[in-house]
Amino acid sequence: VIKVSIIGAAGRMGQALVRAAAESAEMRVVGAVDSTKSSAIGQDIGDLAGLKPMGVSVGSDLAAALFLADVAVDFSHASAIAANLAACRAAHKPLLIGTTGFDAETAAAFDTVARDIPLLVAPNTSIGVTLLIELVRTAAQALPPEFDIEIIEAHHRMKRDAPSGTALALGKAAAEGRDQQLDQVAVNAHQSGTLRREGQIGFAVLRGGDIVGDHSVVFAGTGERVSLSHLATDRAIFARGALKAAAWLAAQPPGRYFMRDIFPDKIKT
Ligand SMILES: NC(=O)c1ccc[n+]([C@@H]2O[C@H](COP(=O)([O-])OP(=O)(O)OC[C@H]3O[C@@H](n4cnc5c(N)ncnc54)[C@H](OP(=O)(O)O)[C@@H]3O)[C@@H](O)[C@H]2O)c1
Repeated sequence: VIKVSIIGAAGRMGQALVRAAAESAEMRVVGAVDSTKSSAIGQDIGDLAGLKPMGVSVGSDLAAALFLADVAVDFSHASAIAANLAACRAAHKPLLIGTTGFDAETAAAFDTVARDIPLLVAPNTSIGVTLLIELVRTAAQALPPEFDIEIIEAHHRMKRDAPSGTALALGKAAAEGRDQQLDQVAVNAHQSGTLRREGQIGFAVLRGGDIVGDHSVVFAGTGERVSLSHLATDRAIFARGALKAAAWLAAQPPGRYFMRDIFPDKIKT
């Protein structure tokens, strides 16, 4: 059994992870933390997730929550990532970061920390999106530059970051397929009065209701278009994928890993 600690345990994804772990014979939750101001501090994670009590309560001391763990999984807030990286590095614990919305300064630390611990940063831990990213890379490479690339995403009204980390990962794969740097070609919402230029990658964002996560990448040519889409209808897919990846990560040497490393035989495009 692989022992996991959850960072952001009281959140939507934290609770989905607790439920997924309860269904898994492979994983056991041994530690849980949430923000210091959270009303969930001191509560049992099983109770919070609508299950039987599990004997693990939500704390706010990550070092203590890591003590028994083989691996940590972070689905919290971008502002917490730097401290979580430092705590996992100090404790020599593998870390999977599912949290999105972090800035370039935070991302700059990933490779350094990955020299000391196994680190997997994944804006989307579903197998479907892992495949979609590789399909988008291939399509961007295969189609001529006259095919304009536009990325559309939709999420629930509580999502804080925009465009989603998954939309940005799809944009990065498309840019890489065309030997471009995403930050040089990305356009966040086209503006009235400005024509789209060839080579740009546009992002459009919808927020509302309880949408779990929809992503489409449109390659729009003249007279035809190719559309590649993924629709998530249950956040359990992210939780199951994250636990599968965490179990795999726990057995790896220090290094930087990606979701596609988890499914090497299945995802070949
Ligand atoms: N990789 C994927 O497949 C995937 C899938 C879904 C979501 N996500 C990402 O995962 C993150 C969480 O999403 P969610 O929908 O679960 O959000 P959420 O419901 O807001 O949950 C986040 C939890 O983390 C807590 N938190 C905030 N700061 C913290 C800190 N410093 N240390 C520990 N816990 C802290 C929050 O507490 P407070 O409410 O008190 O701030 C909250 O309980 C987001 O970045 C989201 O984009 C990724």
